[in-house]
Amino acid sequence: MTDKIAIIGFGNIAEAIITPLLDKKLIQPENVYCVVNSKRSLENIKNNYKYDVKVYESSSQDSNIIWDCQVKLLSVKPQQLKYIIEPENIKIKDNLLVSILAGVSLDRISQKFPNHKCVRAVTNIPITVGKGLTGIAWGEKITKDQKQFTKKLFENSSKLYEFSEDYLDTFLALTSSGPAIIALIIEALSDGGLSGGLPKILSEELVMEMVLGTISLIKEKKLTTSELRNLVTSPGGTTISALRALEKNSVRSALIESIVSASNRSKEFR
Ligand SMILES: NC(=O)c1ccc[n+]([C@@H]2O[C@H](COP(=O)([O-])OP(=O)(O)OC[C@H]3O[C@@H](n4cnc5c(N)ncnc54)[C@H](OP(=O)(O)O)[C@@H]3O)[C@@H](O)[C@H]2O)c1
Repeated sequence: MTDKIAIIGFGNIAEAIITPLLDKKLIQPENVYCVVNSKRSLENIKNNYKYDVKVYESSSQDSNIIWDCQVKLLSVKPQQLKYIIEPENIKIKDNLLVSILAGVSLDRISQKFPNHKCVRAVTNIPITVGKGLTGIAWGEKITKDQKQFTKKLFENSSKLYEFSEDYLDTFLALTSSGPAIIALIIEALSDGGLSGGLPKILSEELVMEMVLGTISLIKEKKLTTSELRNLVTSPGGTTISALRALEKNSVRSALIESIVSASNRSKEFR
């Protein structure tokens, strides 16, 4: 495969994926060809992005150069997909297109880009701080080299999981909607602290540190979640009282439903 890579839609997530590769010199800035929609984004990348990548406005003739890149990362918003048109005569062979469009199926992508082998990846917002989770579903006839390149794209900013596409909706619900669910839980617990008289900022800080500490404990001591619960739930104590209040309000069931609902919604987008 060639070293050139085209980024169709150089927005927040594409930047988070590409920057660590440039930082580690796994790709060279002169080999990165980006397309954006507006002059404003083009100027912003030219003036503020730390690497001197090539960047084009989608309406310019010059932007057609991306079709000469064997590898493409498709990272426009799903509703912008209709504006990306594969030219009829593509000179380059063995093209790879990796789509990160939420909820857009491999089938749709493959039909839209018939001269490409396609991969669908679902990633999440913590990728912007190098702590993402990425689920990958391979399209048909992907070569070993193309798999290797796709993994290289994501593994510097996220942990990788390979799935059949059937599982990607649930993966998306857990990992992409998950941060919003966790943020809501943190917010609600902080409000509990606030109700008890703690200042808001302190309350939020305590909750976040507690969450981080809990995860570290589970991981380092290799505990199951129920072992951890038993560890801190003494007979007639405060924790069982807290857990009882949660069960009484069907919080567990509401959380299960939140994932099922997000997953079903993702299926509707296909
Ligand atoms: N945000 C998330 O949490 C998240 C997580 C996982 C996956 N995703 C997926 O990642 C994709 C990108 O999301 P994002 O948050 O990075 O969006 P974004 O920041 O809005 O980036 C979209 C990029 O596409 C460009 N663009 C728009 N129309 C175009 C066209 N016709 N040709 C070429 N480029 C065009 C935009 O340029 P302008 O700036 O000039 O409009 C922008 O650079 C989405 O499909 C989303 O589903 C997002």
